[in-house]
Amino acid sequence: MPEQAHQQQPQLIQTGDGSHSLYNPALDETYHSHHGALQESQYVFIRMGLDAWRAKQPHAESLSVLEIGFGTGLNALLALHWALQHKVKVHFTTLEPYPVSLETAKQLNYPQLTEGEKDFLRLHEAPWEEDVLLYDYFILHKKKQKLEEAALAEAAFDVVFFDAFAPNKQPELWEKALLEKTIRFMAPAALLTTYCAKGQLKRDLRDAGLQVETLPGAPGKKEMVRGSKA
Ligand SMILES: C[S@@+](CC[C@H](N)C(=O)[O-])C[C@H]1O[C@@H](n2cnc3c(N)ncnc32)[C@H](O)[C@@H]1O
Repeated sequence: MPEQAHQQQPQLIQTGDGSHSLYNPALDETYHSHHGALQESQYVFIRMGLDAWRAKQPHAESLSVLEIGFGTGLNALLALHWALQHKVKVHFTTLEPYPVSLETAKQLNYPQLTEGEKDFLRLHEAPWEEDVLLYDYFILHKKKQKLEEAALAEAAFDVVFFDAFAPNKQPELWEKALLEKTIRFMAPAALLTTYCAKGQLKRDLRDAGLQVETLPGAPGKKEMVRGSKA
């Protein structure tokens, strides 16, 4: 993706469930489904990601999440609330080479919709490149880095939120070699969840050794994909 696609701050938009998202005009791409940002994040990443992992490991007291694309911070906010609700300690590492400005983040209505007033700004204001203890149950580590350049610990993450821009807008993020790299970061029983359900993605994840499930998509979308190491 050309660097100039990120020179402008993205624009605020409203999605079908009343929650905001952002629109990048240079890419002609939104950060979430236009059918509903909040319901998509809640379904694809929390329900099909964190809840599914917990169903497999009901006694686990902690887990590590890797997110590709911090973006608006919506997934991080929902994961934080999930950690507090379930009393599971979440270590949340997120990659974002093009952070949105604090001014843009402050316009998003996620705090009002999720009773997350104080938490949302703390996610955005947290320093980069270090572990930040936001709660006993939630440690945030934001890395201002591209996935292509990230050198993370291998076999370290239990759940991967693969939330890059769509393959037709940012094909380099969905290249097989980069998927294989991401899979190396996954722990033995880890899950990878994404809103995308392209046939090529499923074939590449299978070739890279994951078991692949095609699941019903978030409201307004037909399907989504989850890959599993076990
Ligand atoms: C679909 S949006 C993510 C939405 C985000 N998870 C949220 O909850 O708002 C994709 C994100 O990936 C980021 N991104 C772009 N290039 C990237 C790269 N090479 N590596 C990692 N993230 C990248 C974008 O800046 C954008 O924030």
